[in-house]
Amino acid sequence: MATTTPDIDPREGRDLPVPPDHVIVLFGATGDLAQRKLWPGLYHLEVAGLMPAEFAVIGSSRGDYSDDDLRALARKAVEDAEGVPVDEAAWARFAHRLSYTITDTSGPCHLDAAVEAAEQRAGRRLRRLHYLSVPPAAMGPIVREIGRAGLAPHSRVVLEKPFGTDLASARELNALLHEVFEEDQVFRIDHFLGKEAVQNILALRFANGMWEPVWNRGHIEHVQIDVPETLGLTTRTAFYEATGAYRDMVVTHLFQLLGFVAMEPPTALRARELVVEKNKVFQAMRVLESDDLVRAQYTGYRDEPGVRPGSETETLAAARVWVDNWRWAGVPFYLRTGKLMAEGRRLVTIVFRDAPTRMFPRGSGVEEQDPNHLTFDLGDPGVLSLGFQAKAPGPGMDVEHADLTYSFASAPRHEQSLEAYERLIHDAMVGDHTLFTTADGVERLWEVSARIISDPPPLRRYPPGSWGPPEVDELIGAHRWHLSGRHQ
Ligand code: BG6
Repeated sequence: MATTTPDIDPREGRDLPVPPDHVIVLFGATGDLAQRKLWPGLYHLEVAGLMPAEFAVIGSSRGDYSDDDLRALARKAVEDAEGVPVDEAAWARFAHRLSYTITDTSGPCHLDAAVEAAEQRAGRRLRRLHYLSVPPAAMGPIVREIGRAGLAPHSRVVLEKPFGTDLASARELNALLHEVFEEDQVFRIDHFLGKEAVQNILALRFANGMWEPVWNRGHIEHVQIDVPETLGLTTRTAFYEATGAYRDMVVTHLFQLLGFVAMEPPTALRARELVVEKNKVFQAMRVLESDDLVRAQYTGYRDEPGVRPGSETETLAAARVWVDNWRWAGVPFYLRTGKLMAEGRRLVTIVFRDAPTRMFPRGSGVEEQDPNHLTFDLGDPGVLSLGFQAKAPGPGMDVEHADLTYSFASAPRHEQSLEAYERLIHDAMVGDHTLFTTADGVERLWEVSARIISDPPPLRRYPPGSWGPPEVDELIGAHRWHLSGRHQ
């Protein structure tokens, strides 16, 4: 379990602290995630004044690039992501800190020399942050290389998800990590936890007294965690073929969201306390059986470049999960995610039980309304809404659906918020584990997935642009998916 001691207590004030001086080694520096999120994120931290006073970023990958190639690639990533002209002064400050070194775990590697050169330029030893933005199979060799090069002391390591591909590989990776690093040096990232709107689940639940009395099986009928995406896979098929929707999204982001929704109130809003409560939820999760999962692939996936002809990789996964504890026994959690679906949203919907009796006359409209629900739209910025029944204006006693909505875009400090990756890179630099996952937590999630991984349900098909095959609706039984239903 994470028992980190942050360099500074980042929760003390409302403003985030400036991290201590660092050399950051970014493995996978030319990959898709680095292009979309990590380069723009690091640059934006510089603009926001949240990079250390002294830092160097060493980009690394298997390709042969020069320092200038890396700068050009990072610049393009920043331009593509910003949507506004790049601040040239900030870019110049940032760009001169970048350098490139090749990672070749099968031959001589110059990682140690690159880190030493950065430290020599700074005139002293810096804190080190190794960021592994690489697929699961590449992690072990890089961790070994960091150990061999003597770069583990005075460092922290961030590992992208998915962490392993099943229980055995996650255990193996954890064991290897622990040969090179102490657990409190390890940061397993799940970027959903860095999303402002996701942290709002914690704020809504634990900063208010009114939800706790109804946040249980007595009042909640079921929970939906729904993350359909309109995105396809474009250049990511090589990664995705070996991963699929379940490993890419369910065992990671969706289960972490479930942890935030289902956890008991922690005794403090700190890493150790949150992790204890989240991991208790994971412990209480029932092992998924084959009929708890629907796997499907969109038509045309097999024709995409990089996909094997008879690929059985699912591009959509929907699951029914049970949390067998006193708070949640008998309350199903329905999870759904997929590529090329009808809409791109991230929604957590808490569906409440109906009123115990219906005193409104037949025909008043009560029967046709959806149950009360609280919806967290985890978009950026997020929206919170509460759906309920209200009297329709007019002389009769008709009832209609109404919503109370709060959009975080209207919050005064909304523009100061950091993007998820920015937030988490910053947290790793200051040693704050609050929004990261742990070895036991991740292993437990692979444990509950073991049966459906070894004996997966049949692969269904769905047309691109749809809500998935009919089995996805059958999974949720008498209820219906909030998104594909009336209140969208
Ligand atoms: C990533 C997955 O972790 O999360 C992607 O690998 C997915 O497949 C992405 O598209 C979704 O994240 P976000 O922040 O864009 O909702």
